[in-house]
Amino acid sequence: MDVFRSKKMNRRTVTLGSAAAFAAITLAPGIKLAAQEAEDQLEVFSWWTAGSEAAGLDLLFAAFTAMAPDVEIINAAVAGGAGSNAQAALQTRLAGGDPPDSWQSHLAKELESRYVEPGYCEAIDDLWEEEGWGDVIPEGLAAQSTIGGSKYIIPVGVHRGNVVFFNKQVLADNGVEVAETISIDEFFTIADTLKAAGITALALGSKDGFETPQLFENILASRLGAEAYVGLWDGTTAWDGDEVKAACEDLVKVLGYVNEDHPALTWDGAMSKVMEGTAGFTSMGDWAYGNAVVAGVQDTIGYAAHPGTDGIFISVVDGFVLPVGAPHPNNARTWLKAVGSAEAQIAFAPNKGCIPARTDVDASTLNAYGQWSAADFADSAVVPSNAHGAAAAPKFQAAIGEACVNVLVSLDAASFQMELADAAAAAELGS
Ligand code: GAL
Repeated sequence: MDVFRSKKMNRRTVTLGSAAAFAAITLAPGIKLAAQEAEDQLEVFSWWTAGSEAAGLDLLFAAFTAMAPDVEIINAAVAGGAGSNAQAALQTRLAGGDPPDSWQSHLAKELESRYVEPGYCEAIDDLWEEEGWGDVIPEGLAAQSTIGGSKYIIPVGVHRGNVVFFNKQVLADNGVEVAETISIDEFFTIADTLKAAGITALALGSKDGFETPQLFENILASRLGAEAYVGLWDGTTAWDGDEVKAACEDLVKVLGYVNEDHPALTWDGAMSKVMEGTAGFTSMGDWAYGNAVVAGVQDTIGYAAHPGTDGIFISVVDGFVLPVGAPHPNNARTWLKAVGSAEAQIAFAPNKGCIPARTDVDASTLNAYGQWSAADFADSAVVPSNAHGAAAAPKFQAAIGEACVNVLVSLDAASFQMELADAAAAAELGS
C-alpha cells in the first residue's frame, strides 16, 4: 500500500481509479509501465513558430526527449509574434477545461493576471526546491515567478527588448559609422542619411500589434530613463507629462523613417529587410538576432541598445508553467525540469537570441551577442516590458496597443498622448 502514500503520486494517477491502483499492488513492476503508457504524450503550447523561435523550441524538445525518449511531443504552437493569436486561443482552451501540458508565459503581470488569478496554474515550489532553481535563477526573476508566495513558472531565457539591429554593409556603403551606443539625435542624423539615399532607415512590421508598442516603450525608456519608465506602470510617472509628450513626438518622428508596407509585415519580416539590406535598422527584441543566427548571417548584423537606452535592459522573460489538470502531469513536470536545466538553456539561447535565465552558465559558451547581452543584464537597470506582458495588466496593455494602432494612422502625437493618459487613468495604476 506504500504506493498510495508516495509523495510521487499525482492527481492523474489517483484519478486512474481502482483498476490502476489494483494493478499497482498486484503487478509491482507493471504499474510503472501502466502509468507511463497512460502518459505517452506531452503537449506544449507556445507561439514559437518563426525561424529563431522554432529552432529554439526544437532544442527544448530535444532536452525533454533526452529525459523521456518514449514520449511523443505534440507541438501546439499558434503563430503570431508575442502571442498575438496564441494567447486568445489558449484562454479559450483554459476556459473550456482543455489545458495543454504546459504553456509559455512571461513572468510577473502576465503570469498573474492571465493564468494564476483565474486558477489555471499549479504552484511548482516543490520543483524549484528539488531542482535547486532558487540558487541559480536571479532573485529578480525568482520574484517575478512568485505570485502570492508561491512559484508558478520556470524561466528559460531572458530576452532584451530594447535593441537595434543593423546591416553593417548598408551603413558602411552610406558612410555611416555606429558607435557602441547611439543617442536619439545621432539616430535621427543617421536616419536622414539613409532616407536621402532611398533606404528605409528603420524597418517596422506592425502586423501582429505588439511591434509598435515595443518600439514605443523603447522610446519611452530613452526619454524617461529607467526609474520614470518603471513609474509608468505603477502610477508614479504621469502619462500626461512632458517626458511622455516628448516620447510621443519621437515616435511620430520615427514613423517618418519606416517602410510603408509595415501593416503587412511581422517582426521577422522587418528583420528580413535588415538582413537583405533593404533597410538599415530595426528596433526589436533579440529574438530578431536569433533569426540572423539561424540564417547564418549574424556576422553581417550589428547591434546596440535602442538609441538613448544604454544602461537600461528591458527584459522579456519566457518561462513554462504547470497547469491545473494537465493531461500528462508527470510528463509536464519532466518538461519543466528539462527546460529549467543548464544544458537546455545553453542550447536554446543562441538560436533564440536570449541569454539563459540561469546564472550558473559559463558566459564563454554564449556567442558574442549573448556575452554582450549577459554583461548588460548584469550591469544595467533591468525593467519590465509592457509590450510583452510583464509590466502592466492585460487591459492596460491592450489599450496601449490600440492607441499605437491609431497613431500609426493619425500620426498625431497629441491625440496619442491623450489616449494613453485616458487609458492610464482607467487602469487605476498603483491602486
Ligand atoms: C515575445 C517572446 C519571445 C518572442 C517574441 C516574438 O513575447 O517572449 O520569446 O517569441 O515574443 O514572438
